[in-house]
Amino acid sequence: MAGKMFNFDVEFKLGIDSVDQEHQVLVDLLNQVYELIGEGKRDEARKYFNETLSRYVHEHFSHEEAFMEQIGFPQIEEHRKIHENFRNSFEALKPSIESADDTAFRKALNDAFTWIITHIGKTDKRYAQFYHASRPS
Ligand SMILES: [Fe+2]
Ligand SMILES: [Fe+2]
Repeated sequence: MAGKMFNFDVEFKLGIDSVDQEHQVLVDLLNQVYELIGEGKRDEARKYFNETLSRYVHEHFSHEEAFMEQIGFPQIEEHRKIHENFRNSFEALKPSIESADDTAFRKALNDAFTWIITHIGKTDKRYAQFYHASRPS
């Protein structure tokens, strides 16, 4: 796909198929928003950000929290709290996205993108390590 900002690198794979697939979708959705802005389809991009991406973020967090519970991850509460904070920041972005010009929109998108990538690479990695360590090899 032309104009992709990010390719889902091998270092972001956690080795848990269901989780990796969802992370890939998150990155694809973010790239999709960038493409829409790039094509000048601002309204579509806003709608995509505020509805499609937002819904998927919520879904993914719930799935991930259920997974952490299922494997008995000890730091689940801390992780839940981090998700909660992001959900709140994301919700708080929505009204400004509605009225944002391209620069403000891109800034918000970049912030969301950075957060998600950092979260996968650092925070999600912790439960993945726990999961792999607790499984007989
Ligand atoms: Fe995640
Ligand atoms: Fe997470």
